[in-house]
Amino acid sequence: MYNIETQSQPTMYFIGVSTSQSSIMRVFPLWMKELGRPEIRLQGADLKLHDEPGRYRQAVAQIKYDPLSLGALVTSHKISLLEAARDMFDYLDPHATMCGEVSSVSKSGAALEGHAMDPISAGLSLDSLLGAGYFGPNRADVLCLGAGGAATAIVLHFVHKPDAADRPRRMVIVNRSAGRLETLQKMVGALKTDIEFDYRLNARPEVNDGLMAALPPGSLVINGTGMGKDLPGSPVTGAGWFPLNGVAWELNYRGELAFLRYALDQHESRGLVVEDGWLYFLHGWTQVIAQVLKTRIEGPLFDRLASIASAICSPALPGRAVPERLREASRPLKLGNARLR
Ligand SMILES: NC(=O)c1ccc[n+]([C@@H]2O[C@H](COP(=O)([O-])OP(=O)(O)OC[C@H]3O[C@@H](n4cnc5c(N)ncnc54)[C@H](OP(=O)(O)O)[C@@H]3O)[C@@H](O)[C@H]2O)c1
Repeated sequence: MYNIETQSQPTMYFIGVSTSQSSIMRVFPLWMKELGRPEIRLQGADLKLHDEPGRYRQAVAQIKYDPLSLGALVTSHKISLLEAARDMFDYLDPHATMCGEVSSVSKSGAALEGHAMDPISAGLSLDSLLGAGYFGPNRADVLCLGAGGAATAIVLHFVHKPDAADRPRRMVIVNRSAGRLETLQKMVGALKTDIEFDYRLNARPEVNDGLMAALPPGSLVINGTGMGKDLPGSPVTGAGWFPLNGVAWELNYRGELAFLRYALDQHESRGLVVEDGWLYFLHGWTQVIAQVLKTRIEGPLFDRLASIASAICSPALPGRAVPERLREASRPLKLGNARLR
């Protein structure tokens, strides 16, 4: 029924759309060397967006039935893959069940496991960006532009923060179409939270400028629309004011990144902290690799892997390509050449 390739060396898969172009292909062998597992290789598995269910089942079966196929990181197909192959998994973690998606496929003995790691990797990035207790003294809000998978992960991260000082008072979520907003609203409705949620159906950047201008000082503004990389433009205009002493987080680290440029323009004048998606990328991959290899990647080991990747890739904010504690505090922020790629 399935066409299973018997691998001759331990193999992890990268299930995406055009995986050969990703910089992880160059980074992965160096990371495996650093982890003391140089024999493990990464193999791309390209599928069309919303591909036939049988293709997703074949990709999952390859991991399930071939002993040296260890697992996979899934991008772009997280929902479609789970919809097509849910019955093939022996375990799904609570986030996978709640979000209806898997970003990690791994094995524990003979059992096939699916995890949605985005709440963890987005959460680690936010913890590093904001630090502990950020919302305690600030009573600041979060404006999240986009209500897709990443926004869902960010919402789950904040809702599940046990300390009130790590939770924003209010989250404003904006999306251009109603479907994703309704799905998110339904998910939040089933959770217990004291965060006030405000859902806005809007695709006009000028309206988002207005939402941004109304935020209290210290608030966090997130571009989770994909605009500036997957789509042209920016969800805010160059005339919009970011919150005073606030934080701007662009989830991507390459592309035209107009939102990131607008934020950088206000870095000094508004005391704005500006972050791109590089750390998110690093946490996303290292968390899935840790799950697949049944190991832990954190602290100095994570820092070493971050440095290795940063030496090869060109994130938008080059100096911010390594975790905060490794950076020179006084270095001014400026865009690198990642926008040219
Ligand atoms: N650095 C990293 O490792 C990392 C990790 C995760 C995600 N990302 C990036 O983050 C972005 C979002 O990821 P995702 O997985 O959440 O994507 P997604 O599921 O496609 O969600 C994007 C959402 O933005 C909405 N949107 C698009 N244009 C908009 C606009 N002008 N105004 C308001 N809403 C708009 C879309 O609305 P519709 O419902 O109408 O389509 C969709 O709901 C992607 O570009 C992705 O590459 C980066």
